[in-house]
Amino acid sequence: MIQHNIDLKPFNTFGISAVAASFTEICSTEDLEHLSLKTTDNYLVLGGGSNILFTQNPGGLVLKINLKGIEVVKETDQYVYVKAAAGEIWHQFVLHAIQNNWGGIENLSLIPGSVGASPMQNIGAYGVEIKDVFEELEAYHIDTKEIHTFNAEECRFGYRESVFKRHLKGRYIILSVTYRLTKNPIINTSYGAILSELEAMGVSQPTIKDVSDAVIRIRSSKLPDPKEIGNAGSFFKNPVIAVELFNSLKEKYPNIPSYPVSATEVKIPAGWLIEQDGWKGKTIDQYGVHKNQALVLVNYGNAKGHDIFNLSTQIIGSIKDHFGIELEREVNIV
Ligand code: EPU
Repeated sequence: MIQHNIDLKPFNTFGISAVAASFTEICSTEDLEHLSLKTTDNYLVLGGGSNILFTQNPGGLVLKINLKGIEVVKETDQYVYVKAAAGEIWHQFVLHAIQNNWGGIENLSLIPGSVGASPMQNIGAYGVEIKDVFEELEAYHIDTKEIHTFNAEECRFGYRESVFKRHLKGRYIILSVTYRLTKNPIINTSYGAILSELEAMGVSQPTIKDVSDAVIRIRSSKLPDPKEIGNAGSFFKNPVIAVELFNSLKEKYPNIPSYPVSATEVKIPAGWLIEQDGWKGKTIDQYGVHKNQALVLVNYGNAKGHDIFNLSTQIIGSIKDHFGIELEREVNIV
């Protein structure tokens, strides 16, 4: 069923009002086939709406992916291969895995959004990325209506990147993702904050449930809950810069945090750069920069998407002027 003039405010975690001229929910592959979309049509695919900023009303048809279901498709002594439909809520899926003692995604607890979006931008947190547990995905080719299976290599995962954000953008709709989870979980506490949180919890031999609880505690203390304050998580990517630039910044800012990427490149937390520039906690009318994590832009109520976009442009300009680093938005702008 196609509905008209639907306010998308409840369908995006930024809580921005934008009116969809037409709107439909996709609950089965048949729903997609009946639509007979073409890539030349004007349409927008919406998953959990957790990585999108509406700066205008989307003109054409908005498809809300509501495919549901989780099943074990294969098991070995070591692994369980779990297929989840694209419309499953990511965190619910993580909790389901933890209940079954399937390890591998506990560090990715509480990331907003849907299963279908997880490979799209290779979601990651606390030392784990989806590519680490990814087996394959099924995607619907819009023009041919065929279902194609992609393995990890074909997805070309990178830092918050995949082929679906690049040269296959707009061609496919992800239907399901199969993850390779471990029956004998190996705990990953390489990200320092997890270890210290576990210590604060009094846990010395953590289970995957403990790791998940620690991640939930860290995230809840730093990141605003979209149910209370509109946001889309990290608004910018952490920039990867040349070692030479890093070394010259390090002379000026000895405490600059960094993660090695390769012999020639270093990743810098954008949140640190933005905080250094005095943006952290800045509020303008109904929107601003979150007070606990400068990487997150927030909507306190009825902000307009273009105001938040303009704020992000100002931040990009200020970081460029100050540090010579070009920040890139992680959030999709419509
Ligand atoms: N920092 C600051 N000021 C800030 C924010 C961070 O100085 O306002 C510093 C911290 O002190 C720390 C460093 O930056 O030294 C890293 O901070 P944090 O651990 O909070 O992680 P992040 O690099 O800011 C990334 C991801 C998050 C993910 C966390 C944890 C990106 C763009 N963001 O943030 O992902 O949860 O690491 O792994 O890579 C998301 O993508 O939406 C997201 C929330």
